[in-house]
Order: sequence, then C-alpha cells, then structure tokens
Amino acid sequence: MRDRLRAYEFRMDLQLATRAVREAGQYLSSLSEGVRSVHTDLPHDVKLSGDITSESMILNVLQAESDYAILTEETGVHGERVTGEPYWIVDPIDGTFNFYRGIPLVAISLALWRDNEPLFGVIFDFQHDEIFIGVVGLGAWLNGNPISVSRVKERGEAVLTTGLPVGSVGDEQYVGRLSEMFESFGKIRMMGTAALSMAYLSCGRVDAYAEEEILLWDVAAGIALTRAAGGSVTYSPTDKPHGLVVRGASDARIWER
Ligand code: IPD
Ligand code: CA
Repeated sequence: MRDRLRAYEFRMDLQLATRAVREAGQYLSSLSEGVRSVHTDLPHDVKLSGDITSESMILNVLQAESDYAILTEETGVHGERVTGEPYWIVDPIDGTFNFYRGIPLVAISLALWRDNEPLFGVIFDFQHDEIFIGVVGLGAWLNGNPISVSRVKERGEAVLTTGLPVGSVGDEQYVGRLSEMFESFGKIRMMGTAALSMAYLSCGRVDAYAEEEILLWDVAAGIALTRAAGGSVTYSPTDKPHGLVVRGASDARIWER
C-alpha cells in the first residue's frame, strides 16, 4: 500500500482522513451502550449525541490542517466549495440506529471528492477494527491488505445489499422496485449502513449495492471504494438536496437488463 501511494497527489490528505476517523472511532468505541444517548428522536430515525461529538472531532482534525470545504451529515457545509478544488464529505456515524441498539454494523465514513467525482474514501468499522481505504485509480485496502470486488457477474448469483432510506419507508413504488430486486438477486442483505454495505462490496463479501434517496455522505466513501476496488458504480441526483440513486456492483452487467 505504501509503495502504491508514495507519489499520490493527495497522500497527506489521506493520512489526515485516516487520523480523523481513527480518533473519532476511538471515542465512539469508548461509549458503552448505556451512554449512547439520544440527541433527536425522529420518525424512523434517531440522532445520538455520539453523532454530534464524532462529527465535531472529525471537523477539528480536518480544519486544523486542511483548507478544503467540508460537507457533513450533521452540520452541513463548512467553507466555500470552489470548482476544481477537492472537498471533504463526512458521515460521523453510519448505522446510527444499529449503534444505538448494539447491533455491531456501524462505520465512520470520510471521503475526498472533486467536481462530483470521488478521489478517495475511508470507512472505519471501529467495532471490528477494520479500516477500508479506496483510492480511485490506485487501489483499495482493508487494514493495509489489497482488496477487490468479487468475480460474480450474474445477478442471479449475486448477493445484494440494500436499505430503506428514512423518506422511502412508506413509498409503495419504491417497495415494489425492491420486491422486483429481491426476486432477481441470489441473496439479499439489509445491513442498516450504506457505508459498510459498500465497504463489503469493495472487498467481495457481497456483490451489489443499491439504494434510492440515499444521501451523499452515506455513500461518498463507498462510491470511491467500490471504484477503487475494480467495481462498477453509478450515482445520479434525485430532487432531494444531496439525494442520490446509487447502483454498485462487482460487474456492471449485474445491473444491465
Ligand atoms: C442510514 C444508513 C442506512 C440507510 C439510511 C441512512 P445513518 O444512515 O446509511 O443504511 O438506509 O438511508 O440514513 O442514519 O445511520 O447515518
Ligand atoms: Ca449516514
């Protein structure tokens, strides 16, 4: 990994990102279930104080050493996005509800993008000490070891991870589309974290990921990782601010029909 990244233009930024997620992960790991206190309780969603603290820790690390603008899940835009300049995208806890209930599928997601394209992504599963790093064009690693997407090419053999974004819970059309997918894929998993779903896609544990009305911070690092790990990923904006339709796969043919 080190050799591959020696001359990488954003090497220092990648180091900074890794440090930021590790510090936030250490803090979140120290919270026992009893102190995962609720910050906001919304229909079909919950915000924890941990979301807020994790985000401010990441912001502090980034802002101390980087001038790029930052988009975060909890507090929005910091700084001014300049065309042609990279910007950070932060999800301080992805899988918040899992974390709240003690389901060990949770991650911190941090990405660097430029002009609507991913440069790199870092996803840290702090409960299993797994750090996924994907640098578009250079490769992807899990705890420093190279990873790649699976070799599965057929939809009928593929494991699909998907989710129900908060706003789509009662959307019959969306549920109908999900049901069609459920029929055509080999297996389905709903992990409750888009970031970790895409990290699992990038290391071949699953073969596809799809979600509609997912928000950019949930998938920004996962999109980078999937691409860096040799997978195919498409994303297009929806009407909602930062909303996306995302389709990722080990092979583009999985989504062709
Ligand atoms: C959620 C997760 C989940 C997805 C939801 C997201 P959060 O993020 O990524 O997989 O289905 O749409 O909101 O709330 O845990 O940060
Ligand atoms: Ca999230």
